Amino acid sequence: MQVSAMEQTILDLTAPAKGILAADESTGTMEKRLKNVGVQSTKETRRSYRESLFTSPGLNNYISGVILFEETLNQRSESDVPLPQLLSAQGIVPGIKVDKGTQALSNFPGDKWTQGLDGLSERLAGYKELGACFAKWRAVFTIGDGIPSYPVISVNAESLARYAAICQSLDIVPIVEPEVLMDGNHTIERCASVTEQVLETVFHCLHKHRVVLEHMLLKPNMVLPGKDCSQQATPEEIAVATLRCFCRTIPVAVPGINFLSGGQSDEAATANLNAINVCAGQKPWQLSFSYGRALQAPALKAWHGEAANQKAGQQALLKRARLNSLARQGKYHTNMENE
Ligand code: 13P
Repeated sequence: MQVSAMEQTILDLTAPAKGILAADESTGTMEKRLKNVGVQSTKETRRSYRESLFTSPGLNNYISGVILFEETLNQRSESDVPLPQLLSAQGIVPGIKVDKGTQALSNFPGDKWTQGLDGLSERLAGYKELGACFAKWRAVFTIGDGIPSYPVISVNAESLARYAAICQSLDIVPIVEPEVLMDGNHTIERCASVTEQVLETVFHCLHKHRVVLEHMLLKPNMVLPGKDCSQQATPEEIAVATLRCFCRTIPVAVPGINFLSGGQSDEAATANLNAINVCAGQKPWQLSFSYGRALQAPALKAWHGEAANQKAGQQALLKRARLNSLARQGKYHTNMENE
């Protein structure tokens, strides 16, 4: 049977035991992350840090795809290989973040909507020429007094669906990322109810825009209590709440769900992914990761901008990638953190 370009990308991205590395921080976010470890953010330090991540030996055992920022898609390695090709030569699929960030939604304080639809089709065609096979668009929802409002859920869900339809018209697999933030003191029940409403609206819009669900991936938050909630939850409670929400809202046609880490500690993100996979049993979707901070934070800390620490940074990334690969199969145990 002939496999289409999007089917091949989905097969590659959902390969057993693998997940996605999100390395698509905007220049502003990268500046903060580098500053935290005492490194000045320049085009060159961002390039060299990312090249160091992508050349970690054996990364392709655990990582099926990497999401890049536009700047990185255009950069070349020390040995003059374009960074997307450096990835694809290792069997890692290059992808691209295409949204243009968020803006306050007028009349709804605290709500934000994601921009970037204007000219998206032309931008995507250029990214595809540079080697991108998949894309990512992130919408964020803050939980607070009276928010997220219905208008913000609706406008973000429409944009996610419109973006996904445009990607598919160019044979690019869309990652649809509706993120309910963990900032605040809300309970796990409130997060469950907001996540359910968001996912229900997103899938309604995807359906309206005739997005082929088999040719997309979903990148959602886990259902968690707010960071400042006095009642925190165990991995098992998080797994039960997350899977209940997904069973109610995500069609079985969606091949893969790749969680964001969203500000969880690296170890919590791994333990929770493991519990979800243990609890899921024979659920229809691949339940994997597309972590940014939870994969990179220890690597950044170990690297600290010193060439002499490059290997230590790569080892730190490989450790998190390996443990999340085990968690994605429900085979992780916290004892493994100390091995
Ligand atoms: P985090 O895992 O750090 O939340 O980042 C994932 C991501 O790609 C956010 O858009």
